[in-house]
Amino acid sequence: MTAPKPKLLIVDDDEEIRTQMRWALTADYEIILAEDRATATERFRSARPAVVLLDLGLPPHPGTPEEGLATLSGLLALDSSVKIVVITGQGEKEVALRAVGAGAYDFLGKPVEMDEVRMLLKRCFHVALLEREYREMQQRLQVESFEGLLGSGGNMQTVFNSIRKVATTDAPVLILGESGTGKEMTARAIHQKSNRKNGPFIAINCSAIPEALIESELFGHEKGAFTGAHAQRKGRIESSAGGTLFLDEIGEIPLLLQVKLLRFLQDQCIERVGGRQEIQVDTRVIAATNANLTKGMTEGTFREDLFYRLAVVQLTLPPLRDRGDDVVLLAKAFLQRFGEDNGKTGLTFTPDSLRLIRQYTWPGNVRELQNRVRRAVIMAEGKRLGPQDMELGQALKPDGNASLKEARESVEREMVEKVLRKHSGKITAAAAELGVSRPTFYELMAKLGIGRAE
Ligand SMILES: Nc1ncnc2c1ncn2[C@@H]1O[C@H](COP(=O)(O)OP(=O)(O)OP(=O)(O)O)[C@@H](O)[C@H]1O
Ligand SMILES: [Mg+2]
Repeated sequence: MTAPKPKLLIVDDDEEIRTQMRWALTADYEIILAEDRATATERFRSARPAVVLLDLGLPPHPGTPEEGLATLSGLLALDSSVKIVVITGQGEKEVALRAVGAGAYDFLGKPVEMDEVRMLLKRCFHVALLEREYREMQQRLQVESFEGLLGSGGNMQTVFNSIRKVATTDAPVLILGESGTGKEMTARAIHQKSNRKNGPFIAINCSAIPEALIESELFGHEKGAFTGAHAQRKGRIESSAGGTLFLDEIGEIPLLLQVKLLRFLQDQCIERVGGRQEIQVDTRVIAATNANLTKGMTEGTFREDLFYRLAVVQLTLPPLRDRGDDVVLLAKAFLQRFGEDNGKTGLTFTPDSLRLIRQYTWPGNVRELQNRVRRAVIMAEGKRLGPQDMELGQALKPDGNASLKEARESVEREMVEKVLRKHSGKITAAAAELGVSRPTFYELMAKLGIGRAE
């Protein structure tokens, strides 16, 4: 397969000229033609050519350059990087300069010489390509520079700014966000940007450790403190001295321990289980949860005083579906990364996959996206990943009058029901297959009105 020809939009109201141009340039470019401003704008929007050849004398005032200049500004407003070459009437040097002042890349006077046109177009496409490569490289650099967290959209930039601001203080931070939104990664970024970055980063997932063991995990124990405590052992808090302690799923911590943790936050002192000695520990605490702590507080399962100690600074990570084009940026970054890991380079998404990636609601957020791309890279047979490779095949058919919300819900329902059937109603397995946490999966079921029996 040869590379597709670059697209060139030619805007001229004279049919004869359009035909001539097409004939002369069609070997090198995919030619798109338009005869007035409205058509030009519409075709530009859908085809996104990198270069436009624009006759300034357009209807309804072909005798003046005004309509042409309006078209020029309109196209530049849609895409400021487009290279537009304007064609002006004989001896209209002033008009040409006005056009360049308004953002045209270059100009040609009538009558145009085809050789000149060819040379100029070649240069335009070359510059456009270089600029695009440069932008992509910049984006990659900028993106990689934030401790591995990708995101160029406004709301992630806000998150990065907050991370920068809080990192150098020692204030406790509470990170909120749905499952898979990057809470742990954010905690690590805060640590990396802080003065404690050479100290340890110790994470403890409060929901993954049996209740009976959390206390000794956190605070450590003395020899003989309980059956099985054969030797003295430091807890995670002590191990994090000089660095950062990350308390993940803080909503799951038992009430009794909340008191002990609060004491530690107040005076930076701990006692090992079975110990009498007070130990001073200098650590920075970051907590995270995808649970609703406010609800926990009204229901009495989470202490308010602890909440205020932990949430001196609150950082909320937006769900992936609210991050605009970041979803595509992330998908492409993962594609490149996993492609390299698997020795498959040059993989791309088909336009259909990209559309579905944008439309899907990503209940499991970045983690789900990552899992789907990883699986697609492994399974893909060609270079282009279609919706079926991402297992988004059934999703969001373009036809019909369903609203976006209805379409999303129908896809979600289909997927949830499918995995539930497959795993005979076992929630843990079904959630794992979709790449979401159990709570998220329950929320989905509740939202869609799906009962367990189904
Ligand atoms: N902005 C991002 N850029 C790149 N990778 C990300 C980003 N956010 C999350 N990830 C990746 O997505 C996965 C999930 O992130 P992380 O574990 O930090 O999320 P979480 O909110 O702690 O999830 P959970 O609630 O399931 O514990 C990780 O593999 C992480 O590397
Ligand atoms: Mg996590």
